[in-house]
Amino acid sequence: MKQGGRALEVLIQTIEKNREAIEQIVLNAGRYMKDHPPQIKDVHRKAGLANFVTDEDIQIQKDLIEKFRKIFPACSFYGEEDTAGNSRNGKEGLCFFIDPIDGTTNFIFGYNHSCVSVGIGYNGKILAGFVYNPFADTFYSALRGRGSLLNGKRLQIRNSPIAEGIVSFGCARYNEGDTDALFQIAKELYLGSLSIREGGSAALDICRVAAGANVVYLELKLNPYDYAAASVIVEEAGGVIAQVDGSPITLDRPCSILAGTRTATEEVRAICSKYLKK
Ligand code: 2AM
Ligand code: CA
Repeated sequence: MKQGGRALEVLIQTIEKNREAIEQIVLNAGRYMKDHPPQIKDVHRKAGLANFVTDEDIQIQKDLIEKFRKIFPACSFYGEEDTAGNSRNGKEGLCFFIDPIDGTTNFIFGYNHSCVSVGIGYNGKILAGFVYNPFADTFYSALRGRGSLLNGKRLQIRNSPIAEGIVSFGCARYNEGDTDALFQIAKELYLGSLSIREGGSAALDICRVAAGANVVYLELKLNPYDYAAASVIVEEAGGVIAQVDGSPITLDRPCSILAGTRTATEEVRAICSKYLKK
């Protein structure tokens, strides 16, 4: 094993030793979400179209940072919300990528399809991911090299084409630039698959790829905290995740996301290349 590989393995073992504590923190955060449906006064607008934050997003992120810092005092945090201790520097050292509520719009409207998403990375590589949906009580987790679990059960996806599965995509309103292209792509995906879905939580919809419920997930622009945790969960289940053009996902800035089986991602990449500008 190379020097860098050994250092990463030591870090993964450290995360493994603290796995139960980390999972309990994520579980409690999810339970808090479920027990605190937002009131109208709790909902605030952020910059951009249909971009919301609730008091619950902020409270959960604050709690997560405080609790993880007790276990890993030297780590940094790259969270969605603007709270104390959030440095948004995921490039160097150990970093927690936190989306306190992924699927905030779903949360506001009572869709019961939202999650707490926590990824742990080191120098730009994701080592572990934890995604909990308290409404369905589904807990996805993965440690690099140790496989993916859903509620403790090992996940392994089959290499299905889109014709044999449900295709999922995201179309957050803040990314309106590619609307025409995205819906042309969605039409082809609809015609070429069993059905299409737009779930509203990138983290959960990528985890559903890991669980075999979605054959592929596509979104043209997401932020690292939306996909960091789910990226290792889908890879450890035997799936692939990259940008639409095939380049690696980025952890220091937004990028497009195409996650799925090897065959399905190749099929979707070919469809996308017809409609998206190079
Ligand atoms: P969120 O609920 O945490 O905001 C749905 O298409 C996906 O897009 C969700 O994961 C949602 O995450 C994300 N999303 C919606 N608006 C966003 C924004 N302004 N910036 C980044 N991600 C966003
Ligand atoms: Ca969020």
